[in-house]
Amino acid sequence: MSDQPPIRSYGRLKARPIKPRQAALMDALLPALRLPEGPVETAGREAWLEVGFGGGEHLAAQAAKHPDVLLLGAEPFQNGVASALRHIDEQGLSNVRIEDGDARAMLARLPDAGVDRVFILFPDPWPKLRHHKRRLIQAETVAELARVLRPGGRLRFASDWADYVDWTLERLTASPDFRWTAERADDWRRPPSDHVTTRYEEKRLGDCPPAFLDFVRI
Ligand SMILES: C[S@@+](CC[C@H](N)C(=O)[O-])C[C@H]1O[C@@H](n2cnc3c(N)ncnc32)[C@H](O)[C@@H]1O
Repeated sequence: MSDQPPIRSYGRLKARPIKPRQAALMDALLPALRLPEGPVETAGREAWLEVGFGGGEHLAAQAAKHPDVLLLGAEPFQNGVASALRHIDEQGLSNVRIEDGDARAMLARLPDAGVDRVFILFPDPWPKLRHHKRRLIQAETVAELARVLRPGGRLRFASDWADYVDWTLERLTASPDFRWTAERADDWRRPPSDHVTTRYEEKRLGDCPPAFLDFVRI
């Protein structure tokens, strides 16, 4: 990555007061789950990364379904982190680690080929042309995702904004490191069998039905 800090890709860091129980988890549980500074260790274990996990429903559900996998989640929105901690606590999950900040800072600390799967689900669409530079999917992020994913690893991107779907397809298919796995329209029009519906997805705020793009790291 360049030495410049990346352009901010997220909106507010906190929207409303965090409920007392979640605030207590921010104090008691987050320090135990927060990734330490410095290189992120994934050796010897399958590791999946979710970028921008929002309220953490997908992160927690995947962690519960795959107890042997290490789930790394990054999210700068404090209310989202607090909500994810509630899910982790309620489900007694021990295989989740959290970066309560920009995923790109965490990506930079991951080893080459250290991750098996990456999920980017309904990222902020930044639909205005002058805000496109804020989108998470940029050439630099694609290069970082290629670096951290092991060959054969998979990346899933989902969005309900048609222009962002096209934007991502354009950038990922232009990359020599990724191959789009879809063979028929239903492969991207229907949620994949292992998908867990997210809170943002349910809101249907975009301008098209949700599209699911699965890529394999060549
Ligand atoms: C539209 S929400 C979707 C949340 C969730 N994936 C879902 O589908 O419900 C996009 C999320 O991405 C987060 N986000 C934006 N930029 C990010 C970044 N650089 N690193 C990590 N998360 C980011 C935002 O804070 C926000 O919670």
